Amino acid sequence: MTVFETIAESGPLLRDAVRSGNLRVLASMLGPAFRGLIRHRGRNEDSTPVQLGYRAHFDWRYARSEPAMARLYEAAKTSQWNARTDLHWSIDVDPLSVEHPIIPDEIMPIARHPLFLKLTAAEKGKQRSALLAWMLSQFLHGEQGALFAAAQVTEAVPWLDAKLYGSTQVVDEGRHVEVFHTYLTQKLEKLYEINDNLYVVIDALMTDGRWDLKFLGMQIMIEGLALGAFGFLRGATGEPLLRQILTNVIADEARHVHYGVLALSKFYASEISERERREREDWAFEVAVLLRNRFLAGEFYDEHWAHAMPRAEWNQLVLDSGMMSIFRHTMFKRIVPNLKRIGLLSDRVRGRYASLGLLEYENGPAATELTAQDLLEDR
Ligand SMILES: [Fe+2]
Ligand SMILES: [Fe+2]
Repeated sequence: MTVFETIAESGPLLRDAVRSGNLRVLASMLGPAFRGLIRHRGRNEDSTPVQLGYRAHFDWRYARSEPAMARLYEAAKTSQWNARTDLHWSIDVDPLSVEHPIIPDEIMPIARHPLFLKLTAAEKGKQRSALLAWMLSQFLHGEQGALFAAAQVTEAVPWLDAKLYGSTQVVDEGRHVEVFHTYLTQKLEKLYEINDNLYVVIDALMTDGRWDLKFLGMQIMIEGLALGAFGFLRGATGEPLLRQILTNVIADEARHVHYGVLALSKFYASEISERERREREDWAFEVAVLLRNRFLAGEFYDEHWAHAMPRAEWNQLVLDSGMMSIFRHTMFKRIVPNLKRIGLLSDRVRGRYASLGLLEYENGPAATELTAQDLLEDR
């Protein structure tokens, strides 16, 4: 089997890219897919060097031309919080608790499976704690990607107001890395490695030279999805410290997605050709597929269920589970309306989103219409 065939088998992304016939998208995803799905970069190593190639953009006129971004910058300055002193780290967290489950069994994809039902109460506690650690570990790795992406777009974006706003996002993302890492290591005492699909998305947007793809991949896709996932988890857990963390992080992320929608609506409406717009549309779809795949919880399966069932059976179980459909719903309802708003949901790709069951969200509110309170209340 050639390397190319192996990659094509490794994930639906290249199969879909081949089907859509967009070779430019294929070419731009090939390196990241090879590194993530074949070489498993980011796993089994302490650090991963990534070669970057993009242009920073100096602005010597300092024109304050973007009032909506300037407003976000002001809001960001007055909404800063200190991860060490503003959260109640003294709260005692028992991730294995039987009396107060850290997450409800119903959000475990395997909750109704006879093998899970047979477990003792203590074993179920271990499974809940491990699945939560897996989810939060992926959030942590996503936050590290967001920290770097925020720094990159701050350099590369052409408008001064966007650079000023970007400087606050860098601080926000640093704080998010801090809170998730602290919770995982001090409260759950467990850290999972990065999921291959998530690695591919982060690698792709980091290494691409086009600044708008960094925005599209991070601010619209990964952060949109994270917003949905944070809201879902906040509603599901009764653990007060985790709820506090998620409440604070959601308020920050709401600004980040808003910023991405503002920047890309302006850029895609006036500064790219129709061919370039189509390419972005295809790229966004490939990323949507990868993000959907990352929620198969493969690393959790490897540790807890690989001895009991083949991976294909696990994947099907997760895809069919009630938890997965609620999760998909909350995540993609924060992405699809934003794609529509920035002009990347034309009739040529609507069918592809429909085939993934994601089109139902297209008429929901975009990030620019939502407040942090709306997001906390899952509106
Ligand atoms: Fe973040
Ligand atoms: Fe963010």
